[in-house]
Amino acid sequence: MAVEKERRNFLGFALGGFTAIGSIAALGAMKRTWDPLPSVKAAGFTTVDLSTMEEDVLNVEKWRGKPIFILKKGPNDEENERDVIVNGSRFHISIGLCTHLGCIPAYKPADKNFLCACHGGTFNLSGEATKLPPEKALLIPPFKLDGTKLVIGEEGSEYKALKAANLLT
Ligand code: FES
Repeated sequence: MAVEKERRNFLGFALGGFTAIGSIAALGAMKRTWDPLPSVKAAGFTTVDLSTMEEDVLNVEKWRGKPIFILKKGPNDEENERDVIVNGSRFHISIGLCTHLGCIPAYKPADKNFLCACHGGTFNLSGEATKLPPEKALLIPPFKLDGTKLVIGEEGSEYKALKAANLLT
């Protein structure tokens, strides 16, 4: 009788153990299914090397389907509190969508501004609206500096400082 009871206890413990292990494995599999794929995670960031950029040439990168303007300013270009300074060089960084109705402004090096062809709005080299109808500056995307690398999509200290100073748009 005692042997029969011990056998039942053992079977009960064994079955409970297998169930617990199975449950943990199932939870692990479910989590892996819910987690975004590595390629999707990487898609949230765009990394750009600023050290190779030439002055006065607009670089247009893509981040989450939006155009990102990066312009290295020249020594004679007006300084602005929205400038991002890397290795002593000043950069304009913005989302290249007009803050009026979302058209993509064109860079006009001769005029030192961005012209939105949709309704004639303009922005200066720092992305500030200089001619209506847009009333707000081009938006600065979240970014982080990693040496001379610009990581778009992550909030670094430089971005947080601009945010705190209310300079993002
Ligand atoms: S969308 Fe740019 S001026 Fe209207």
